[in-house]
Amino acid sequence: MKVSTLILPVMASSVLVAAAPAPLVESNKLRRTILRSNLKARALELNGIAMRNNGTRAWGTKGHWDTLDWIESHIPKDYYNVERQFFDISRTVYDEVSVSISGTFETDVNGFTGGPNGTVTAPLVAVPNFGCEAGDYSAAVSGKIALVHRGNCNFGLKNALATTAGAAGLIVWNNDVVGLQPTLGTPDAYNVTEFVVAAFITKAGGEALTTKLGNGAKLDATIKSLFHYDVETTANIIATTKNGNQNAIITSGAHTDSVRAGPGINDNGSGTIAQIEVAKALTKFSVNNAIRFCWWSAEEDGLLGSEYYTSHLPEEEAAKIVMNLNFDMLASPNYVYSIYDGDGSSFTSPFASNGSGQIEQTFIEFFGKDGKASVPTRFDGRSDYDGFLQVGIPAGGVFMGAEGIKTAEEAKLFGGQAGKSYDHCYHQACDDEKNLDYGAFVTGAKSIADAVAKYGTSIAGFPFPRPAAKLAKRRLRSEAMVPNPKKGKHGGCSQTQES
Ligand SMILES: *[C@@H]1O[C@H](CO)[C@@H](O)[C@H](O)[C@H]1NC(C)=O
Ligand SMILES: *[C@@H]1O[C@H](CO)[C@@H](O)[C@H](O)[C@H]1NC(C)=O
Ligand SMILES: *[C@@H]1O[C@H](CO)[C@@H](O)[C@H](O)[C@H]1NC(C)=O
Ligand SMILES: *[C@@H]1O[C@H](CO)[C@@H](O)[C@H](O)[C@H]1NC(C)=O
Ligand SMILES: *[C@@H]1O[C@H](CO)[C@@H](O)[C@H](O)[C@H]1NC(C)=O
Repeated sequence: MKVSTLILPVMASSVLVAAAPAPLVESNKLRRTILRSNLKARALELNGIAMRNNGTRAWGTKGHWDTLDWIESHIPKDYYNVERQFFDISRTVYDEVSVSISGTFETDVNGFTGGPNGTVTAPLVAVPNFGCEAGDYSAAVSGKIALVHRGNCNFGLKNALATTAGAAGLIVWNNDVVGLQPTLGTPDAYNVTEFVVAAFITKAGGEALTTKLGNGAKLDATIKSLFHYDVETTANIIATTKNGNQNAIITSGAHTDSVRAGPGINDNGSGTIAQIEVAKALTKFSVNNAIRFCWWSAEEDGLLGSEYYTSHLPEEEAAKIVMNLNFDMLASPNYVYSIYDGDGSSFTSPFASNGSGQIEQTFIEFFGKDGKASVPTRFDGRSDYDGFLQVGIPAGGVFMGAEGIKTAEEAKLFGGQAGKSYDHCYHQACDDEKNLDYGAFVTGAKSIADAVAKYGTSIAGFPFPRPAAKLAKRRLRSEAMVPNPKKGKHGGCSQTQES
């Protein structure tokens, strides 16, 4: 008797819950639940994580693992299937990089990222011109170390031509007094199976050696380029709604890591935070199409987290993803509302497509609804949407500006200061919770809510399912992801393949 009285109310309440299913999501209702006060609270929490961890949330640090725990603590587990996807990143750590010429060590020697590990000793020969033509490498190069001037072509081509000519090693000398961290790229891009051991020396060093060789000196060179890999583990967080069609998934991504130099609250804590708030708000509604929020790791080292995800996605799983939305830097203090140019109407892009164009249109309409301006930004694959484009999944998103300078026209459209960068704290210690424009931040978070509500309700007219042929393009990378200096908007600054 006692037992049944206890059971009855429970049954009654569960019937009540079933009788009132969550309403289908609507953009205006979802947007209304995005509050500035919550965004601000999350920014303070995230900043606190950085401050307790030496001011950084870079991947591999405790600050980053704490960030992942914090994100997971905010995702309602009854509404989402939450997965932590672990992966390894291998970092090249140089043990010794040196060049000695007949016993005298060159100063300021750099190794080539992507070059082979090893030591080689052989006579030194100067290669004429810039060593960009097969004809520059005479038979005399065979078995010797080639000394080549920087300039006119990629380092990889110089190395491949030296390799093909039978050289034992390569020394490239700078054509500028400013140093750099050179990188070779991959040998197969130059039709060779391997590169020879190589090192990069200064302009002064190269000029002195060229003069000596020109005067008939006989010199022996030793190149040491010795390194090992440090493998470190990191993780992405993937949270998929339990409701909605699991064969038509909208992914939305932001990256969770900061640079080592700062707390990364705008870059890209703002995208991370905005996604948390939209993910929480969505739980009051149901969706027709599943929504998958992704928090990527290791963006700052070349989009590694998102590329790990897409390159390990089985084809049948990739086929279920309708589109990828990408949100980062959503609260730049001197912001512009810029939208990836998915249809290629403003910037040429190999990735422009009808699907990406439709996503762009969705965001243009979102800003337009409130009478806000927006501008197109390059759709060049330099953020976490790249891996999706590579497997044929359309993409789009919003970006509010990094180190670029606001133009006078942009200041007319958005206010703020012309001639100043969009985010003067970009990649610095001052990128903390005080760096954000909270008005822009609320708008950015609402742009996520709008796209999630729209596509979570319907993908009518969107090119989906895609023709199977599109999926064949996926690239698989090795198990441990190697930082790729050509990827990511930052990589380009200090490392270069160009000479
Ligand atoms: C902060 O940096 C110091 C010195 O590099 C290091 O010993 C310590 O473990 C770091 N603390 C955290 C929480 O990362
Ligand atoms: C590599 O070989 C391909 C096919 O033969 C050719 O098209 C390409 O130009 C070559 N690349 C280089 C850098 O030699
Ligand atoms: C590079 O060579 C050194 C010396 O032979 C060796 O100790 C080291 O393990 C090698 N590194 C890699 C990545 O193979
Ligand atoms: C953050 O994301 C935006 C847009 O994806 C990107 O352009 C920006 O450079 C990112 N910042 C960093 C440091 O990753
Ligand atoms: C994309 O294709 C659909 C269907 O073919 C078409 O109706 C629509 O206008 C196209 N959209 C764009 C932006 O090109």
